[in-house]
Amino acid sequence: MNSTLLHSALAALALLGVATVSGCNDVNTELRTPVYSTSIKEDSTRISDFAKEFPLQYNSYMKNSESSVMTEYKGSVPFHKNDNVNPLPKGWKHAQPYLKNLWLGYPFMYEYNEARGHTLAIQDFVNIDRINRYGEKGTLPATCWNCKTPKMMTWIEQYGDDFWSKDVNAFRGREAIDAKDETIGCANCHDPKTMELRLYSEPLKDWLKRSGKDWNTMSRNEKRSYVCAQCHVEYYFTHKDNGPASRPVFPWDNGFDPEDIYQYYKGHGPKGADGKPGPFSDWVHAASKVPMIKMQHPEFETFQDGPHGAAGVSCADCHMPYQRVDGKKVSSHWMTSPLKDPELRACRQCHADKTADYLRERVLYTQKKCFDQLLKAQEVSVKAHEAIRLANADIETNAGELHPQHQALMAEAREMVRKGQIFWDYVSAENSVGFHNPTKALDTLMTSAECSQKAIDLAQQATNYRISAALAGDIKTIVPPILEFSRKLQQDPSVLESNPWLKLLPTLPKADKVWEGQDNLTAAR
Ligand code: HEC
Ligand code: HEC
Ligand code: HEC
Ligand code: HEC
Repeated sequence: MNSTLLHSALAALALLGVATVSGCNDVNTELRTPVYSTSIKEDSTRISDFAKEFPLQYNSYMKNSESSVMTEYKGSVPFHKNDNVNPLPKGWKHAQPYLKNLWLGYPFMYEYNEARGHTLAIQDFVNIDRINRYGEKGTLPATCWNCKTPKMMTWIEQYGDDFWSKDVNAFRGREAIDAKDETIGCANCHDPKTMELRLYSEPLKDWLKRSGKDWNTMSRNEKRSYVCAQCHVEYYFTHKDNGPASRPVFPWDNGFDPEDIYQYYKGHGPKGADGKPGPFSDWVHAASKVPMIKMQHPEFETFQDGPHGAAGVSCADCHMPYQRVDGKKVSSHWMTSPLKDPELRACRQCHADKTADYLRERVLYTQKKCFDQLLKAQEVSVKAHEAIRLANADIETNAGELHPQHQALMAEAREMVRKGQIFWDYVSAENSVGFHNPTKALDTLMTSAECSQKAIDLAQQATNYRISAALAGDIKTIVPPILEFSRKLQQDPSVLESNPWLKLLPTLPKADKVWEGQDNLTAAR
């Protein structure tokens, strides 16, 4: 049978499969993804290689470049997530003003934007200020490429575990990668020969192995979420004491909840004198000097035991709904906010008895409540860092008598500011503003605020309350939000004078850009 015939025969079968599930109120129960026999190279990493044989999915995937539509809280304009002052595209009404403060001393303080579509991932990556553009080296590991391109498969085959700890900029130039055609694409989720769903992701494959799960025996429905869990998850980079340096790992050995992940990080850092790994940290906060964790978009962890995840609904059900194009039923490959569709068709394939307005209101109801609590938890977290900073200074300068247990109290205070911020970031970095799991989002924010408040109380107690007066009042006047900051601004001492916390950072040496996007400017000079 030639490939076109096989293709259409199977497509017809797939259509039948689709026909039996459309309109029902439950999840997709067909056994497998339609199988094709293509003429695409098995090691293809280019999106354009798939265009001829799969024009419908290809055209749909290209819509991921749409980058102007916003929903109430989310959408695809890449505004600065800390800026609630300027209008779009720079800022947005529901931004979180304290992000730069909470990440003080970590590259996230330079730039952090709202996500947009997969086809723009490399362009956004090579233009973000988190990667150092003022030197040849980006000063981040190549691991960052892991969620930006299917070319990871080629690089891992070439370099093995030596890949991860190379400098990120080693793969940045136009000769290394095609930003448009080799961005996140078909080969990240599909076997190019058969188009069956497959995993390219090393950390997800590692986790399946560690937890005794086998991709080949998973249900179709699980796969329709796990392909997304290759990237839309929390991860960290292995410390060299514990395995191949900077290899990405999903911290799921204790479970998916923030408490499980927090406990996990206690034992995956550098090895101590006893030979056992101590706490892992991403960076040390510049105000409180506490070793911190930056959480990254835990969509899968949040969703899997929420109302939809627990009921067996998959990521693809909402973000890749079935559509009829040219009379054929295909999965939408425009993976974006389902609320961008005024009719909310993705939701109404299951909630057929509800109107789009009703469903949108339900989403907004959850999001507003979660976002309001998120802002409160964030403010307590800032205050907790300030309390520890003040207490550190009080102790260092021998300002007066200390609580007899001040060392233990301060140790606990540092643990609590770290835990409070991990919990806050679990919800903050998660991209649904609570919708994927409303109960977990609110529970996590409550614990966050509780831990941060405890840090404040303990730091005051340790100093016999000498720092209390300096902490009284509105945090916005004690430590104002840092609205604008970048690597360039850090080269200017007068900028560092403009906020009490920016004063705590070193001035960077004056330097010109070495990289602009994918271009090395020194090579051109
Ligand atoms: C992020 C993961 C992901 C990417 C990237 C992706 N797909 Fe898919 N694709 C899926 C999922 C999930 C399904 C649904 C599979 C199922 O229901 O079993 C699917 C289904 C398909 C199907 C089966 C028919 C259908 O429409 O349901 C084809 C063909 C296909 N994709 C082609 C492509 C092409 C071509 C590209 C690149 C332009 C691409 N896909 C990119 C995840 C992805
Ligand atoms: C290879 C890694 C990777 C995989 C696999 C992946 N994503 Fe993404 N996703 C990203 C990155 C990175 C971005 C942000 C890109 C940017 O902002 O430039 C993103 C953005 C998104 C967005 C925001 C789009 C917008 O318009 O704002 C949605 C929604 C999304 N992904 C859903 C999914 C779903 C659903 C799946 C599985 C079917 C999936 N992703 C699989 C990495 C991935
Ligand atoms: C029941 C439907 C549903 C399921 C299942 C679901 N999502 Fe979502 N997702 C939503 C809604 C609704 C939003 C909020 C969109 C908004 O506010 O504009 C959202 C938001 C997102 C966003 C941010 C979109 C943006 O505009 O930036 C990403 C990324 C995302 N989801 C990924 C996932 C992943 C990955 C999974 C599976 C692990 C998943 N979702 C499962 C409905 C769903
Ligand atoms: C594949 C089917 C499916 C899709 C698609 C789907 N849902 Fe659901 N939805 C469910 C199921 C199943 C439940 C759980 C019902 C139960 O357990 O009583 C649910 C529950 C809900 C609830 C009640 C949740 C709660 O906290 O009690 C809301 C609200 C909801 N869905 C909104 C949406 C929205 C909005 C979308 C689109 C973004 C959507 N759903 C897409 C199947 C789906």
